[in-house]
Amino acid sequence: MESMSGLIVRQATRRDIAGIISVFKTVYLQDEDWARQAIEQLLDLQNYTILVAELNDTVVGFIDYYVLPSIWEKWDEATINYLFVHKDYQGRGIGAALLKEVIRQTDKMGIGELHVGTEKDNTRALGLYRKHGFTKEYLLLERVKEGAES
Ligand SMILES: CC(C)(COP(=O)(O)OP(=O)(O)OC[C@H]1O[C@@H](n2cnc3c(N)ncnc32)[C@H](O)[C@@H]1OP(=O)(O)O)[C@@H](O)C(=O)NCCC(=O)NCCS
Repeated sequence: MESMSGLIVRQATRRDIAGIISVFKTVYLQDEDWARQAIEQLLDLQNYTILVAELNDTVVGFIDYYVLPSIWEKWDEATINYLFVHKDYQGRGIGAALLKEVIRQTDKMGIGELHVGTEKDNTRALGLYRKHGFTKEYLLLERVKEGAES
């Protein structure tokens, strides 16, 4: 898929929080106030980055990653936690553009391993990740606390 003309991928600031939340809202969002505070806290972290995709001054997607030193290997490792594209803008190469920029930045930083997790049946996300070199598979298990809502 061709990447869209006029699409800008750049580092997010606090001014983008409303835009990020509006993208979340088109896919899934439980509590807006909680989300706003969570994004504020994340943006304050040292080794954490959010990138937004912007089209005509509107945030249409975002991706994040955090970087930690590896104990095992002599390099840093990065993990992508979120990749979301506005529902009306999916399937136009925006997810790919965001992912490519994270790969470019983490490659430049000399990061040896880049991880991303997704649900096993998310074929769209899996197709995107595999196409961009995420071919080694790990198994990420989750335990939901008894009584916790999901
Ligand atoms: C997954 C997601 C981020 C992809 O972003 P996107 O902008 O729609 O994806 P792109 O247009 O860049 O497409 C990239 C690849 O996705 C796959 N893809 C796109 N649309 C697809 C569809 N309708 N069915 C299956 N695969 C599809 C293809 O592999 C495509 O590669 P191509 O260039 O060969 O066509 C987006 O759909 C999304 O936000 N989904 C909801 C949230 C989510 O699941 N996030 C990821 C898990 S954390």
